[in-house]
Amino acid sequence: MADDTTFPEGFLWGAATSAYQVEGSPLADGAGPSNWHRFAHTPGTIRGGDTGDVACDQYRRYREDVALMRRLGIRAYRFSVAWGRVLPEGTGAVNGRGLDHYERLVDELLAAGIEPMATLYHWDLPAALDDRGGWLNPDIAGWFADYARVLYRRLDGRVKLWATLNEPWVVADGGYLHGALAPGHRSAWEAARASHHLMRAHAAAVAAYRAEGRHGVGLVVNLEPKHPASTGPEDLAATRRADAYMNRQYLDPALRGTYPEELAEVFGEAWPAWPPGEVAALQAKIDFLGVNYYTRSVNRADPAAWPVRASPVRQAQATHTETAWEVYPEGLRDTLLWVKQRYGDLPLYVTENGAAFYDPPQAPPEGVQDPLRVAYLRSHLRAVREAIAAGCDVRGYFVWSLLDNLEWAHGFSKRFGIVHVNLATQERTPKESARFYSRVIASNGEALG
Ligand code: BGC
Repeated sequence: MADDTTFPEGFLWGAATSAYQVEGSPLADGAGPSNWHRFAHTPGTIRGGDTGDVACDQYRRYREDVALMRRLGIRAYRFSVAWGRVLPEGTGAVNGRGLDHYERLVDELLAAGIEPMATLYHWDLPAALDDRGGWLNPDIAGWFADYARVLYRRLDGRVKLWATLNEPWVVADGGYLHGALAPGHRSAWEAARASHHLMRAHAAAVAAYRAEGRHGVGLVVNLEPKHPASTGPEDLAATRRADAYMNRQYLDPALRGTYPEELAEVFGEAWPAWPPGEVAALQAKIDFLGVNYYTRSVNRADPAAWPVRASPVRQAQATHTETAWEVYPEGLRDTLLWVKQRYGDLPLYVTENGAAFYDPPQAPPEGVQDPLRVAYLRSHLRAVREAIAAGCDVRGYFVWSLLDNLEWAHGFSKRFGIVHVNLATQERTPKESARFYSRVIASNGEALG
């Protein structure tokens, strides 16, 4: 049990990344291209024309990165597997060289005493599957489960924590509704269907794990408390819609086998009348839930904000990160408590939390001072500690991110790393936040004060 200052024994202190954001070499060793590879190579999609062709070169430098984590005292690494490295066509023949890469990474981590957490899908879909409709094709649930099985068979046991999907909301909202992320579509009809098939795929990969695996499988969602801008009924209703759309759209089916009723209001005629049996089948017992937390939003009713009809109101007095997100640490505590209250006790991991603040492209000789990131991490880790003290079963925390990496459509313009990456030389320099995190880990939280 945690006392007032420390975390429970065995608390997993981790760092997170994802394949397309850090690996580079997207076509190496027989890998099939992903939808993100295609998207990034389409003019006008990513700021500055950046791509994941090199990124942080982790595909080739993973040993160096594992050694760096070990020096920092990091105990767990959450990475994602690029589906197209393992199955270049998305289905069918396994590419041994791609699979071997993840086996080498996992073995390197274990040798360094670092626990691996593998995410099976962090947004990079094999392009061959995108050609077949991607998340709009109902067959994708089976394709995903087959892919998951390949990984479970090779690595379960060495990997004890598997996450099926990372942030299904972002996949559907960014990829199929607003089009800012791959595959860049813009349709409410598609977004509603993509969400549903994402959750079918999740349930299918969990069922496959029950047959193949012995350890832990879970889901990773991004959660954001939705607060009303006023107590007026319109703002309250807008806030409920925003909450249903982002937070409950995925957790309700995964953990209760239902969809929030507000979704019919959000999507209107684009919301299909899903057969109740099919919705109930989305519920699958998971061993843990991963919560990604960055900020909250304060909402007002806005008929022009398609399709949710809620707009965020900027909090003028608050600190904001480089991605314009309000720094709101108490929201992390409240979110963890909300999950417990609404869905009951289940093991939780904070699978992402962190902030982009300005850091120079080259690390100055005196080191990278990032006091705003240190303050962000300190306040959010204290919030996690409060949630644990209030009875939440939080078993670990993964800072986003280990490295400055490709921040999707923002390209390399937003730096989230606790380790600075000089993108011209690939030199890694731990920032002050990394040293701070090391002290927190070494003291099991006491250094947070
Ligand atoms: C994603 C990461 C991303 C981070 C910061 C999360 O939505 O899982 O891939 O880099 O937030 O935007």
